[in-house]
Amino acid sequence: MPVELHVVEHPLIADSLTRVRDKDTPNAIFRQELERIGILLMAEASRGLTTHAVRVQTPLTETAGRQLTTQPIVVPVLRAGLGFLHAAQELLPNADVGFIGVARDENTHMPKPYVNKLPQNLAGRQCIVLDPMLATGGSLEHTCRLLVERGATGTIIVVCVLAAPEGIELLRKTDLDLSVYTASLDERLNDTAFIVPGLGDAGDRQFGSPA
Ligand code: PRP
Repeated sequence: MPVELHVVEHPLIADSLTRVRDKDTPNAIFRQELERIGILLMAEASRGLTTHAVRVQTPLTETAGRQLTTQPIVVPVLRAGLGFLHAAQELLPNADVGFIGVARDENTHMPKPYVNKLPQNLAGRQCIVLDPMLATGGSLEHTCRLLVERGATGTIIVVCVLAAPEGIELLRKTDLDLSVYTASLDERLNDTAFIVPGLGDAGDRQFGSPA
């Protein structure tokens, strides 16, 4: 199935991306910069949402306007995806939010699910998955399969800061229909499946290292 990759080029994204990559950026600044990138990526990722014509009364006259036809479902992947949630809610304040928790096994790099809080029926709803890091692609594949199980159809939008070529390749071998918006397609994964050059662990850099 198609996996469309959109590397969003914008001077503000490039500027913030440099700060999130910097190992000396403190966690508080890292979260701020991540959110800035999230807003700019979300603006691009939401470009294709369907609108319909409405009439609106300005203080002077009536004129034509447009409104979103349906509200998307936004799905942050815990933990790191929480860093994009505020950005998504700023742009889509009426979107429902579903939560998926996945921790990558340090040895096998396989996703280990621990939370699934999605709306029962996703039929007819545009799903937008938020996860800053698309490394092997395992966490994203797992998340998108849960969405499809709940009835999601059509293209699932994915918003990430960094994507690795290996992860995109894996997803292209699946039957998932995805449109991925990222700030950078990085070079590769290292032998511990971290994205290189990358930014380290996006969860730890926002919330600290779990015990
Ligand atoms: C990281 C990242 C993604 C996942 C990407 O999460 O936030 O969810 O790994 O890796 P993959 O593409 O190889 O599956 P992690 O498991 O470290 O959990 P965290 O967000 O709680 O730090």
